[in-house]
Amino acid sequence: MHINKNIIVSNDGGILTITINRPEKLNALNTDTIAELKLCVENSYDDKNVKGLIITGSGNKAFVAGADISEFVDLNEINGKKFAEQGQEVFASIENCPKPIIAVVNGYALGGGCELAMACHIRVASENAYFGLPEVSLGILPAFGGTQRLTQIVGKGKALEMMLTGEMIDANAAFSTGLANHLVATKEDALESAKTMLQKMFKNAPLSIAMIINSVNASFSNIEDGYQTEVNGFANCCKTLDFKEGTSAFLEKRKPAFKGE
Ligand code: COA
Repeated sequence: MHINKNIIVSNDGGILTITINRPEKLNALNTDTIAELKLCVENSYDDKNVKGLIITGSGNKAFVAGADISEFVDLNEINGKKFAEQGQEVFASIENCPKPIIAVVNGYALGGGCELAMACHIRVASENAYFGLPEVSLGILPAFGGTQRLTQIVGKGKALEMMLTGEMIDANAAFSTGLANHLVATKEDALESAKTMLQKMFKNAPLSIAMIINSVNASFSNIEDGYQTEVNGFANCCKTLDFKEGTSAFLEKRKPAFKGE
């Protein structure tokens, strides 16, 4: 069994909550934390006991204040490329997870922390949340997918403004740009809101959820044709028992009982 040192993992009724737990370093993502996060998310793909995930930060000050800057000192052109590629791979495994993942953003979500939140499917922020990509002030750029995902979520102009100034935006601004889907008062409220949203999703067909995530992600891919992915997803759904169950339940005026088959 793998023992996590930097993340806390708990499963409550099918909701797997991953808490990044390095509060003394504002939950900065060092190499070990990223590796633990990757393993935990990838294990959840086929885990029948996991229906959806929440990613959050320990304490009230930070979601994640970025990649661990103390590990940057030895980066050069060669290992820097590898570092960015590996980070992108981990965050792609979050984005491509067939189960919904909600980021509960409490406090600073900076650099790799903002990128982590953006790799999640949905973001719920508490009032003390701050989002930002300050890499430009360190002489680098967001390279765990941040230049792409921020542009996808808030649009080119706002994304460039945030990345070129490196300034943080507060929770209200994040909500009004769409970077945060929901804005609530406290971290506890944000966790509650994320859980309520996941419970609503769990009433729906799990394979439909997976196909929707896959199709939406395909619309941002240069390799896949999103419309074709959608057609294939529909065809795949049509052969499932849950599709039969969903349509029968509607016609019989009862609630469906989906099995993910
Ligand atoms: N990497 C490594 N350590 C970090 C960190 C990061 N990204 N962010 C915070 N820390 C550490 C600090 O070094 C400090 O450690 P120390 O007590 O051993 O000195 C501790 O976390 C607390 O941070 P501190 O800076 O003292 O808190 P603050 O309230 O004064 O400031 C921030 C909070 C978020 C504004 C500030 O920590 C910051 O700017 N962090 C870096 C953000 C960043 O550039 N992220 C992008 C990285 S790509």
